[in-house]
Amino acid sequence: MAGRIPQDFIDDLIARADIVEVVGRRVELKKAGREFKACCPFHDEKTPSFTVSPHKGFYHCFGCNAHGTAVGFLMEHDHMSFVEAIESLAGQMGVEVPRDESDQPARRYDELFTLMSNTQQHWQNRLREHAPAVAYLKERGVDGATAKRFGIGYSPDGWSELIDKFGGSQEALERLLATGLVIRKDNGRHYDRFRDRIMFPIRDARGRCIAFGGRAMGDGEPKYLNSPETVLFHKGRELYGLYEARQALRHIERLVVVEGYMDVVALARNGINFAVATLGTATTPDHLNQLFRLTDRVEFCFDGDRAGKKAAWRALETTLPHIREGRQVHFVFLPDGHDPDTYVNEHGSQAFIDLLDAGMALSEYLIEELASQVELDNADGRARLVELARPLVAKTPDGVYRELLIASLAERVGLSAPKLDSMIRPKASRPHDSPTPATHHKRRSSGGPSVVRRAITLLLHQPDGAVDLDATSLASVDRPGVDLLISLIETVQSEPTINTAGLLERWRHDEQGRHLGKLAAVEIPDDEDFDPRAELAACIEQLGTMGRRDRIDLLIKKQRVGPLTKEEKAELRALS
Ligand code: UTP
Ligand code: MN
Repeated sequence: MAGRIPQDFIDDLIARADIVEVVGRRVELKKAGREFKACCPFHDEKTPSFTVSPHKGFYHCFGCNAHGTAVGFLMEHDHMSFVEAIESLAGQMGVEVPRDESDQPARRYDELFTLMSNTQQHWQNRLREHAPAVAYLKERGVDGATAKRFGIGYSPDGWSELIDKFGGSQEALERLLATGLVIRKDNGRHYDRFRDRIMFPIRDARGRCIAFGGRAMGDGEPKYLNSPETVLFHKGRELYGLYEARQALRHIERLVVVEGYMDVVALARNGINFAVATLGTATTPDHLNQLFRLTDRVEFCFDGDRAGKKAAWRALETTLPHIREGRQVHFVFLPDGHDPDTYVNEHGSQAFIDLLDAGMALSEYLIEELASQVELDNADGRARLVELARPLVAKTPDGVYRELLIASLAERVGLSAPKLDSMIRPKASRPHDSPTPATHHKRRSSGGPSVVRRAITLLLHQPDGAVDLDATSLASVDRPGVDLLISLIETVQSEPTINTAGLLERWRHDEQGRHLGKLAAVEIPDDEDFDPRAELAACIEQLGTMGRRDRIDLLIKKQRVGPLTKEEKAELRALS
């Protein structure tokens, strides 16, 4: 069987592919400045609005918005699959497509997976031998069959269990480091990351162990220790329990998103096999894509406390762009002091399901939450509600769901739906003002996302502008799109010759890839005074400043509620 095509081959092929040649064989191109023009092959037109940029490796039609790389063009125009397009390009260039069997990094991946699997097995064996760990699980209501299903194990106390067992050679040690199972100290010595903990394997969609979460058995800190981000594990993409749910259920009618490992396990123990947990992070668009690929009904289940409410609201904001007709999203809040684990163990599975069934629909939650922040018995309050709802409605894709949301809002504020619709529509924007669709996160007031968007646009136009950027200050910036910006910068820095098309292909299989294509198609000034590199650097600096300001605001807010820790005080002083 043919293996995967190595990514560096694809990068290289795309960097070298001549898009003018590829498109030019199928469409008659005319040179126009630095670019080429033609009548668009994807829609009917008399005047050419289809442009091909050789230096970006990218085509774009201003008429119908079609855009993409040489690979994308072959897929769209000649209806090839991705692999066929790669093979066709390679054929044109007279090179053979390598497959992973002979490829060094791919072999390494296999070895990493094997190590993870062996470690899981090892820790499962250790669990059986360690009575206090078994007792701990029993006490928490986890029986042997459930522990086995989830591959739960125990990492013994000691600093070199895994090193002694699996770290026999330099290469083996490197693998332990690469998977985050072992930590290297400054003095060059090594030690096991997980010690004296109940171990939960985190599995990918194919059931392979890619990371672990480890629970301290007593009051040890931190309560949960997780694998770091590694080549196998990106926590913003993974959902704990998803593989197990798919194994247990033939048809997934609903998925409930909870907060903790133990919640998933406890629910499964009680016969509720459709729970998954994010891994100590907020729900990401990646998570939502995975969830909605499997089911049309997603339920977020949060603790009833303030932290739970906050997390729920964040989940709502992330979910809005993913709302479609036929998709149901519900929010469920547990009684104070409970999490799904304690609730199901105390009241049983039927009570938990009843709670889920009584959850609030997303639109209901949105409106009730906003309504609780204003006074609806006066005109000012109602106007304020409309203002609060505006950015949220803007995130919702056009369609039936959005209309229903507007209708419910209208009813709540006592206006007709068309009237409210006209009030809520974004103020007329300048043409070419915003290249992203209405579904994009908007927080105009702070200027946040537009700076991020601008930075991404500039980076796509001139990738080598990111080669020497210092992006460390971005880590503390909490704005939509910053993670993507950081990934783009990291990609360019590890692959300095990558071009626009190369970046787009890297993100081809990613939800955000669609947005990137649109941003790559935005026109930026083409004159000598405009230096995209300097502009990009300025954006990064601006974001760094915004990140610091956000952090100051947060600390000040926190200070109002209670005393800051010593570290926080020092940080605040340093920042201001
Ligand atoms: P919680 O603190 O709510 O714990 O963390 P829990 O799930 O109720 O755990 P038990 O019942 O005390 O065992 C929820 C999730 O947040 C992440 C973990 O993913 C955890 O499951 N978390 C929490 C950490 O990553 N580290 C921590 O120190 C605490
Ligand atoms: Mn708990």
